[in-house]
Amino acid sequence: MATSAGLSARVGPVPFKDVEDAGDMVTAVPERPSEEHVGLVSALPCCTVAGMSNMKLRCYQGFWMQEGLVPAAAALQRRFEPRPSDVIVASLPKCGTTWLVALAFATLARRAYPPGAADHPLRRLNPHQCLPFLEGLFAGGREGKLDALPSPRLMNTHMPLAMIPGAVPADGAGGGCRVVYICREPKDMVVSQWHYFRRVYPDLAFGEAVDMACDGTMPWGPFWDHVLGYWRASAARPESVLFLRYEELLRDPAGNVRRLARFVGLPFSAAEEEDGVVRGIVELCSLDSLRGMEANKAGYVDPRIKFPREALFRKGVADDWKSHMTPEMARRMDGVAADKLRATGLAFP
Ligand code: A3P
Repeated sequence: MATSAGLSARVGPVPFKDVEDAGDMVTAVPERPSEEHVGLVSALPCCTVAGMSNMKLRCYQGFWMQEGLVPAAAALQRRFEPRPSDVIVASLPKCGTTWLVALAFATLARRAYPPGAADHPLRRLNPHQCLPFLEGLFAGGREGKLDALPSPRLMNTHMPLAMIPGAVPADGAGGGCRVVYICREPKDMVVSQWHYFRRVYPDLAFGEAVDMACDGTMPWGPFWDHVLGYWRASAARPESVLFLRYEELLRDPAGNVRRLARFVGLPFSAAEEEDGVVRGIVELCSLDSLRGMEANKAGYVDPRIKFPREALFRKGVADDWKSHMTPEMARRMDGVAADKLRATGLAFP
């Protein structure tokens, strides 16, 4: 493990697992709030997801989350101190987070770790082990670990933008950092969620997953408010928030990796282009490549809720909803999305 003194001499991002060797707990989120927060949490509106062993979600400032996460959301809002060079990868679960995490790490760390290197961290670690997961750290009171990381720090969150106000300050205010958000066609997000959740909660009916999304009562939901928070910020401050779509990444991964690199202030040089660095990053982070790594074939994303890492790499296509949803389900989801996103300039065609 690197020491803090050793770390300060390095340039970020460094693989988080190498400096915070807490096993897989880097992504762990507590199921229940600690004793001191029970009062705050139990006063909030509650809903349970029957098919997920009656998982309790609480509505905190308009967003539903596992109750163990509420204190983390409050702490993030109060205490997160971004550095100007920070980059935060944000998303709703099952919208391409793992892919973007891998691409962002490979892009930002390419000088220390060329994509073709045999010892590249993505060849020995799951992509999520390379980045600190903000709510996991804040939930466990371990956010001090962030202070020791060299700049630029690359971090990951599913929290809505409203919970990390320091990241993109209000108009005119200074400070803040850069945020890269990925969204996905909501019907495909639901299909992906259902397949993933079922690995741990086999009783979750597909209709229940659709209901959660349409009612807004899904973890980190409602999806429309989550997406709109980042969408509006990207329109107001395009230099602070890069808004990506999973489907666009599928269509043109290299073009989007170049956008990402420009956005974080590390555009590819002509020499790098000639050396095929962009192609190398895209190949290293492709679904087949990541799926084939030993680190992604075994183990769990979160050792508490035993989601297998290999479940992060399923089909990786657009429009899978067509083979899962009844026409009525699809109409309902489209109706909710159209209604909630009306006049925002954002649509899912
Ligand atoms: P599907 O379940 O539709 O296949 P997340 O990382 O946010 O949990 O998202 C998971 C989704 O991204 C899954 O979608 C998964 O297959 C897909 N995915 C993971 N890695 C990918 C990659 N390298 N390229 C394309 N899609 C990927």
